[in-house]
Amino acid sequence: MQPQHAAAAMRRFEGRVALVTGAASGIGRATVDRLVREGARVLAWDIDAARLDACAGTHGAAVLAQPVDVTDAAAIDTTLAQALPAWGRLDIVVNGAGIVGPNGPFWETTPAQWDRVMQINLRGTFLVARAACQHLVRNGWGRIVNIASVAANEGPKNLSAYAATKAGVVGLTKAMGKDLAGTGVLVNAITPALIATELLQQLTPHYKAAALARIPLGRAGTLDEAAALITWLCSEEASFSTGATFDLSGGRGL
Ligand SMILES: NC(=O)c1ccc[n+]([C@@H]2O[C@H](COP(=O)([O-])OP(=O)(O)OC[C@H]3O[C@@H](n4cnc5c(N)ncnc54)[C@H](O)[C@@H]3O)[C@@H](O)[C@H]2O)c1
Repeated sequence: MQPQHAAAAMRRFEGRVALVTGAASGIGRATVDRLVREGARVLAWDIDAARLDACAGTHGAAVLAQPVDVTDAAAIDTTLAQALPAWGRLDIVVNGAGIVGPNGPFWETTPAQWDRVMQINLRGTFLVARAACQHLVRNGWGRIVNIASVAANEGPKNLSAYAATKAGVVGLTKAMGKDLAGTGVLVNAITPALIATELLQQLTPHYKAAALARIPLGRAGTLDEAAALITWLCSEEASFSTGATFDLSGGRGL
């Protein structure tokens, strides 16, 4: 059987409910598509309500579109409280919402720009996991996947705020994994390099060309490749890793 046919035949998430942030676009959207294809029902969160509706429109009753700003702690609590009585349970959380923020030397980054990237990429990841984890712990089973970046390790020139948030997500993941050890809830992160999404429009052409040149496999990653790793980390098969960070960089991050 070809790998893609084997994947299509899998129903690993039958009966599971997942929450995906950044669900309107890119890696988050690809993760929603794959989770639904494999039997999950998904709470799809994003700040972009129109594109979230388009995502839900594709999947019908399997996806509930809930426009949420992941920097808003009160909105996170309210939105979860609205969904969970009807949906009954929560098993999986994928923290995909993120922005690049300013491109330039750190001294040109304004405090407001710095705070915005921190709020979305790092605080948002913390807030969503914080609100959701009690529901996973109640099941005695759960998976949380945080999307960091190779920038966490590399600290790329001109991306100081982004790199700092992604290093923060890696550290947060390590601590969350230990805090939840023994509950049945596993927490892991991935560090993608260049995945072909709209996020790349937030980078300069020079940065993108240089980043591509540093990938030993010689190409950008695909959304299918990102969704494959993320959903494996959401599955029962991923059972002996927590607090860990998984490379998805075509060799660049190693
Ligand atoms: N594409 C890559 O090459 C790459 C590489 C490394 C890491 N990542 C990370 O992967 C994650 C997904 O990125 P992507 O490439 O799919 O980008 P994308 O721009 O396609 O998707 C990001 C989504 O996050 C949403 N979002 C932004 N701010 C939000 C907020 N405050 N609240 C809720 N949603 C918000 C956006 O509306 C968008 O739909 C990000 O955390 C990004 O840093 C991407």
